[in-house]
Amino acid sequence: MKIGVVVGSPRKQSFSRKLANAIGELVPAGMQMEIIPIDNLPFYNQDLEDAGESPATWLEFRDRLRACDGILFVTPEYNRGVPAMLKNAIDVGSRPYGKAAWGGKPAAVVSISQGPMGGFGANHALRQSLVFLNMPCMQQPEAYIGGVANLFDAEGKLTVDSTREFLTKFANAVAGWVQLHAAKQAA
Ligand code: FNR
Repeated sequence: MKIGVVVGSPRKQSFSRKLANAIGELVPAGMQMEIIPIDNLPFYNQDLEDAGESPATWLEFRDRLRACDGILFVTPEYNRGVPAMLKNAIDVGSRPYGKAAWGGKPAAVVSISQGPMGGFGANHALRQSLVFLNMPCMQQPEAYIGGVANLFDAEGKLTVDSTREFLTKFANAVAGWVQLHAAKQAA
């Protein structure tokens, strides 16, 4: 089974991406995680769609989403909301109307912050969009990762045991959540 990972930051040294990679190493056997890039997506504009001129990157992105059994979002908080790049990816994946590539896929959210609040605002702003997209979003465990700049070494490897323990539980829960929904769809 495959979980597509959408990371809300384009930064080379992004803590969100480091965390996404760390989670990818902790998922149980049989569950694959793959980051789906979103930093190459032009802003959504319905005029392009209506003219049959959708950018190839939009189409490729939607195909990659469709090939996934579930989606994990790992994002920083920008001004108590989600980064515009991530919102744009949500919008691009949601169209054409009635054909959303997110299409009811099970989802989970991790928010990060260098501060103590762990990106709570971004986490819940994102959940609001997932309601509209009909993506069942894992409720527990919630993942608000604060103080994220203190969790990694120079090579981007996770160094804090308690965080690894938490993320292992989280990764197992996400895998279970995705499997549960796959089983429901197969039934
Ligand atoms: C931020 N940052 C931030 N942090 C936070 O906890 N709450 C916030 O509302 C914001 N707002 C915000 C807006 C903008 C425009 C930027 C660029 C940054 C800090 C931000 O979360 C922090 O730099 C993260 O480390 C960025 O994520 P990556 O790139 O490390 O994944």
